[in-house]
This record gives sequence, structure tokens and C-alpha cells, in this order.
Amino acid sequence: MGQIIQFTGLSGTGKTTLSNALLEWGNHLNLKIKLIDGDVYRQTLCKDLGFSKTDRLENIARLGAYAWSIAEAYDFICIAAINPYEEARNNLKLQYGASLIWLKCDLEALIGRDPKGLYRKALLPDTHPDKIRNLTGLNDTFEEPVNADLTIDTGKLNPDEALAQIVNFLII
Ligand code: ADX
Repeated sequence: MGQIIQFTGLSGTGKTTLSNALLEWGNHLNLKIKLIDGDVYRQTLCKDLGFSKTDRLENIARLGAYAWSIAEAYDFICIAAINPYEEARNNLKLQYGASLIWLKCDLEALIGRDPKGLYRKALLPDTHPDKIRNLTGLNDTFEEPVNADLTIDTGKLNPDEALAQIVNFLII
């Protein structure tokens, strides 16, 4: 049975980048790693969901159930989603023994990076038609994990260093 790893972190902290780097590392070692990326599954399995608390909890519950359903075929299954609520994270830990990796980065750095332009849109004036009103970390909740198994500050470490920490954590 593969180990389920759930990431948590704001948009732009490197969840997708590091999961893809992890996939590549796994390929070299002939490990079977499955990446379940929130952005991708929001187009399919979770297409009907929005960004309310209820929908975000449901999103993670579905991704967890899916990860569990395929766990036998993999060594590691990585769920890369913002995953902002303790309740959802704790459920995955309790139900599936999923470990938790928190990718942490200060908000100023994320606003500076902003590869999808989401922070810029969330910071628009209230009257602007493009304004995003529920962006996690800016104007929607992110509950900081109290019991992450691994915390990585991607504002301080470069992607290679962050990957090394994850790999170390996985092989222990
Ligand atoms: S989660 O909160 O339910 O875990 P998930 O990781 O699946 O979120 O989806 C987040 C992605 O949806 C972001 O990477 C971003 O591209 C997009 N998105 C659109 N609107 C929002 C929003 N209001 N808050 C967060 N992400 C958003």
C-alpha cells in the first residue's frame, strides 16, 4: 500500500513545482508516484465545486478518497492542493494515514511571484469586476497546520533544497 502525502500551502508556494520534481526523482529510482494536483482535478472529479469552506472540504475529501482507491498501485500518492482547513487535513490523516507537508512562504513573496495573477486580482478595489473575493491567504481562511510532519519554507529554500528535504522525509 502506497503512502499518501498531502501538501498544504497557499497558491504559489510551490506545491505543483515540487510535486513534479518529486515525480521526476521517483522516475529515476523506478518508484511509482502519482500526483493528484488540485488544479487538474478541479477540471474533472471536482468540477462542480467552488471555493466555499464546504466545497474546499469536499474537494480534499474526494481527492483523499481517490488517492486511497489507487494507493495499492503506487509507492507514493501526492495530493497537491491548497488544503486550507485542519478538519480536512486531519480527516485524511485519520482515514488514510496521510502525512502532511506544509509549504510555507510569506505573503509578500507570494504576491511578488504571483505566477497566475491571482493575488493581483484579489488586491483589486472592491468595485472592480475582476476582483477575486475569496483568495486563500489574502481574503479567505488558511488555517496554519499545528501538526505538520514536515514544514518547508519555500521563501528561503530554492526548489532543489526543498526537494531534498521532501526526499529525506520520504525515505526515512
Ligand atoms: S482547495 O482550497 O480546495 O484545496 P485547490 O488547491 O483545489 O483549493 O484549488 C486551488 C486553485 O484554484 C488555485 O491554484 C487557483 O488556481 C484556483 N483558484 C481560483 N479561485 C481561487 C480562490 N478563491 N482561492 C484559491 N484558489 C483559487
